[in-house]
Amino acid sequence: MFSLIDEKNLSIILDHVSDGIQIIDIEGRLVFCNRLAAMLDDINIENSLGKHLFEIYPSLDEENSTLYKVLRTGIPIYNHEQTFTTYKGKKVATVNTTLPVRKNGHLVGAMEISHDVSAVMALSEKVVTLQNKMYGSKDTTASDDAHFTFDDIITRNARMLTAKSMAMRAARIDSPVMIWGDTGTGKELFVQAIHNAGGRKKRPFIAQNCAALPASLLEGILFGTTKGGFTGSTDRPGLFETADGGTLFLDEINSMPLELQGKLLRVLQDGTFRRVGDTRTRHVDVKLLTATNIEPLEAVQLGMLRSDLYYRLNTITLHLPKLVDRRDDIPLLVEHFIRKFNDRLYLNVMGLDEAAFSALMRYDWPGNVRELEHVIEGAMGMMEGREITLDDLPQSLQRAARERHRSTTSETNTRLPMVTALANLEAEYIEEAMTVTGGNITRAAELLEMPRQTLQSKLKKMRESESAENSAAGSVK
Ligand SMILES: Nc1ncnc2c1ncn2[C@@H]1O[C@H](COP(=O)(O)OP(=O)(O)OP(=O)(O)O)[C@@H](O)[C@H]1O
Ligand SMILES: [Mg+2]
Repeated sequence: MFSLIDEKNLSIILDHVSDGIQIIDIEGRLVFCNRLAAMLDDINIENSLGKHLFEIYPSLDEENSTLYKVLRTGIPIYNHEQTFTTYKGKKVATVNTTLPVRKNGHLVGAMEISHDVSAVMALSEKVVTLQNKMYGSKDTTASDDAHFTFDDIITRNARMLTAKSMAMRAARIDSPVMIWGDTGTGKELFVQAIHNAGGRKKRPFIAQNCAALPASLLEGILFGTTKGGFTGSTDRPGLFETADGGTLFLDEINSMPLELQGKLLRVLQDGTFRRVGDTRTRHVDVKLLTATNIEPLEAVQLGMLRSDLYYRLNTITLHLPKLVDRRDDIPLLVEHFIRKFNDRLYLNVMGLDEAAFSALMRYDWPGNVRELEHVIEGAMGMMEGREITLDDLPQSLQRAARERHRSTTSETNTRLPMVTALANLEAEYIEEAMTVTGGNITRAAELLEMPRQTLQSKLKKMRESESAENSAAGSVK
């Protein structure tokens, strides 16, 4: 590669990357600075090249300069957060990685790669300030951010009902609650319902996604910062202080750096913590709710979650199953969302036709309830009649329905005798009715319009032939 790209080309490339890059020689003089670094720091490249670092940045010294530190120690510094004000008064926040530059094994300089996080930082500071304003007065009447209650959780699935009743009990006590489930299964819904059902409902509800911020900023956001804690830092409370007396929801907790998880464990154990750079220990009373989209124990095994934190957090763990694993919830949710969008869009949709319903029942719902909600909303926005039909559904669902239809018809037409094909179809109808009713034979019989006893004997036969098939398969092995 380097036979193709000479120094000039390389500097053109480096001018177009989206991180700032600066290189100093062993004396501490600037030998390279790409355009983004110059822009970030408000410096003029031509005027600065060859000058000493501390001459270009008067606020830097041997103690606080990471480039200088690497020059002295030869040890890389990864993801170090830095906030500073340029001589033009611009506030900049970067996350820097500083590496030694070696030639033939000898240290000859240091380079720094700076990722600009000013926009994210400014936004998160705004959020914290706003939240502080909202909850600043001790007599806050209600938390505006948590609007869902247990009544909004629609389900008749046995596992979900268990999770719901556990959550209701968990709302009454202060223990932390951990919720895990795939995307769109209702974790946020549960979290808000827990807050609103408990004694803290009139106190703040603060939610923070741990994957949404660079790891190095998260600590300051959660625990607050102190003036002088690092270059340019200010005195600012973090979300723990803002949520005092209320609930803090940490989403995607498995994305939190392990070191920070240790600090979190300490707050859980004795309610104490320190702002970044502070020596003073503070005390808070916060109910901690956490969520992950993988099984927490798996997160521990993958090294994403500290096991000591896991054991502290998992006193109450709720699992929200995927929608494919609780298809009996689909009809109820569909009805709920039709009602919701009828109200919102001033429509009068009555329901779905059979083909559309069957497509919804058979689809595998990778986006779970959120996807189902969007599908109903999308269909209701497009349709003209009073009933949702297969044509109103997204292509992906129509395709899944057609493929399923093709595979059953090709089996029936070409390979199987009619009696067997009809028996298969009947079995499929019965399975579907049993799924929809959550295994309730009486209700399934009503749905299929057949006597309960007939259904029972058909089910028995189905199970017998299933186990015969299984043991036949077993004997082949
Ligand atoms: N049981 C339910 N009853 C009614 N609505 C539900 C239910 N579960 C989910 N929803 C709807 O689906 C949307 C997505 O749910 P939620 O935001 O709680 O998912 P999540 O598990 O937090 O997903 P993610 O991991 O992607 O953040 C909610 O806004 C809500 O409208
Ligand atoms: Mg969520």
